Amino acid sequence: MEGFTNKEINFEVLKKRAFNLRWAEVEDGVIPLTAADSDFPVAPEIVEALQDYIKDGYFPYVPNRGMKEFRQAISKMLKERKNEIVSPELILPIDSAASGMMTIARAFLKPGDEVIVFDPVDFLFRTSMGNAGAVIKLFPTKLTEDGISLEGLEDYITPKTKMIGFCNPHNPMGMLYKREELEYLLDLSEKYGFYIMNDEIWSDIVYPGNQFISLNSFGPERNRRTLTVYGFSKSFGIAGLRVGAIWAMNSENYEKLAEASYVDTTIGGVNVLSQVAGTAAIERSLYRLDLFVQNITENRDYALERIAKMPGIRCHRPQATFVLFPDISETGMEPVELVELLRDKYKVYIVPGGERFFGPGSEGHVRICLATSHELLEEGLNRIERCLNDIMSGK
Ligand SMILES: Cc1ncc(COP(=O)(O)O)c(C=O)c1O
Repeated sequence: MEGFTNKEINFEVLKKRAFNLRWAEVEDGVIPLTAADSDFPVAPEIVEALQDYIKDGYFPYVPNRGMKEFRQAISKMLKERKNEIVSPELILPIDSAASGMMTIARAFLKPGDEVIVFDPVDFLFRTSMGNAGAVIKLFPTKLTEDGISLEGLEDYITPKTKMIGFCNPHNPMGMLYKREELEYLLDLSEKYGFYIMNDEIWSDIVYPGNQFISLNSFGPERNRRTLTVYGFSKSFGIAGLRVGAIWAMNSENYEKLAEASYVDTTIGGVNVLSQVAGTAAIERSLYRLDLFVQNITENRDYALERIAKMPGIRCHRPQATFVLFPDISETGMEPVELVELLRDKYKVYIVPGGERFFGPGSEGHVRICLATSHELLEEGLNRIERCLNDIMSGK
């Protein structure tokens, strides 16, 4: 990858293959800055690893609990890049982060248990815990100057609270939690005995000057009830391979995860090619991830500069993730209404805030994905600007 330019993007392929509100689902001419998925091809090392595996023509069963080299690669990366000491025996490959969240919910929740889900946050927290029969209580999540406030969280805890969903870095707010907040959450988990569904899928996409701190970096003793999920869709652009990993900080919880994942029966488990790709991603393409973050940083800075000059929209500066989550309430329009207008008239598509994707606390907001070329981002922002100028000048 030279940089985030149109030259690097194969639009013909994306038009056929990129779903989930993206190229294959929009009319020609519409720029989709929607699902958090990259427009760039994966690192060549990932393609090579897949080709190498395929060429022998054998695809037998692999270990039920995942390939050893894959688990070892994840364990090493966690130690070296995130100060998380997790032995490969406690890491369970899973067929996507989404499925990992469902497995965690199934393993530790029963119908009627209460759970706390931050609002806003990615819909998968509600979906996974709700599917396990839990009663969801929303914790209104507020931005602070330099993060997200956990103030008042304790008031939402009851004797029935069994799990809290924690997204660090936070999608869609793009913020990181600080050491004090992480310790506070661990204190609460110890005091009240609830589990933490700790989603670290965004932990590789951190802007310069910021630091991702994992709950797990406080060690296994403090994380007796922490269950972590990680995925490859954001960092390595392999969402369609449906691959991720979950881990616990002790073998008792790990066994519960393994059981709930059905891998020992072969009903669950990760496609071998996805594990090969995941292993190559970590072992051979981290250089490319770092390059990706550099380019995303340029895109973030450019987009923030542009948005600051537009009417009817305000945006805080994210510390992590490749999404912006601006406030558009000044336009007086509902997010869905604005997004449809943008798509149909101005030919740029973004994700609306509101109940469906991020919860009721995301009303008044939209989400913009930055993982595209500088040219497309510029043109997408031009179109957003035209739309907002028209709305705010009453046209
Ligand atoms: C916070 C969060 N968790 C989980 C996922 C799901 O990732 P995957 O594609 O690996 O299922 C996403 C994807 O957007 C996400 O933002």
